[in-house]
Formats: sequence, C-alpha cells, structure tokens
Amino acid sequence: MSYAAYVFDAYGTLFDVHAAVRRHAGGIGPDGQKLSEIWRAKQLEYSWVRSLMGAYKDFWQLTEQALDFAFEKVPSADRGLREKLLEAYWHLDCYPEVPAMLKSLKAAGARTAILSNGSPSMLEAAVKSSALDDLLDDVFSVDDLRTFKTTPSVYELVTTNWRLYPEKVSFQSSNRWDIAGAAKFGFRTVWINRTGQPDEYRDYAPSLILPSLEGLAG
Ligand code: LAC
Repeated sequence: MSYAAYVFDAYGTLFDVHAAVRRHAGGIGPDGQKLSEIWRAKQLEYSWVRSLMGAYKDFWQLTEQALDFAFEKVPSADRGLREKLLEAYWHLDCYPEVPAMLKSLKAAGARTAILSNGSPSMLEAAVKSSALDDLLDDVFSVDDLRTFKTTPSVYELVTTNWRLYPEKVSFQSSNRWDIAGAAKFGFRTVWINRTGQPDEYRDYAPSLILPSLEGLAG
C-alpha cells in the first residue's frame, strides 16, 4: 500500500549519527565506538528528561553536553577533538539509500518531510550537506514547541501543518521508542531496524519493519 505522505526521523534514520566519530576514528583511539554510543545515549536521555521536567534546551545544547559527558566517561578519547566532532555533526552523511528512495517517493507524487528533535539550524545544515533540499517538502523541528519526542504535540505538527489524519501519514524511524510514540499518535509506522535490535514497546508495534529505507518506495 502506498501513502500520500511520508515523514522521516532525522538522526539515525536519514543521517548517520556515528559518522562524526568515524570520520575522526584515527585520532580518537580504540574507544571511539564507545564514545559515540555514550554521546548518542546521553543526547536522547537529556531530551526525555527535559521534556518531562518542562525545562527545554535546544537539541544542539544537549548534543554538546552529551559529548562532554561522553569524554569524561571515556578518558582515553582525545578531548582535543571536541570541536571537530561537534563540527562534523553539521555535515553528517546521509545513509546511501536515502536520495534514491526520496526521489522515488517524489516521482510517485508523495509529500515528504523530516520530523525531528533537531534545532532548525542543525537540520538545515544536515539537509544541505546531503543535498536533500529538493527532495523534502518540509522540515518540522520540535523547537517551536519547546519539548521533544515522544510528546504527542510533536507528531501533531505534521497533521496540523498538512491537514491530514494521522493514519494517512507513513512515519519512518530507526528509533524504536520514536516508533512507539508515533504509533500511539496514530501514524502508520515503519521501524527501520538497521542494527538488528530486539523489539520492545510491544503494545505500540510498528506496522512494518525494514532493515533500511531501501524497500520503502516499493
Ligand atoms: C530525531 C532524533 C530522535 O531526529 O533522532 O528526532
């Protein structure tokens, strides 16, 4: 079944969040992967805790604070790379299948957008550096709402702006917790399980599971 509207999570789904550390792997040393995983896990934890507390700070500030925590946890990693790693976040690679997949959806007449925790400037930079500008109709950021996923009003940004019922929107994310939030809101959901993670949040199951975005456009 094809949909008239496809909405994508950004980090981990369209853009490879571990590309920043990989790009500087030589300088970071043997614990680069650990650093990258702690960086990402803390970035997300801060987003959930700040949403619950009602104490929003934009995603860029959370990304900086999470990297500082990761450096403290992984003393072998060279802190001199802090600025380079942060700078790389503005030029993350998109996954290789993304441009062709978006082109197919556009060719079939679908609307496409990003819905992300990212700040508008972070998202604009990532979209530009991957040359996805012409393949996306909209980029929705949580920033105006001053809260993060999985707050229902975040998913509502799409249905309000596009005047669509939730079940008319196909939402893709590699983050299982984001799929749970989107399924609860009422979107059709596709979990992009790139790394073979076990299923969770079983009461909010995805409509479909794919190993990458490649098969999405059919
Ligand atoms: C985002 C994070 C959750 O792009 O990956 O919203």
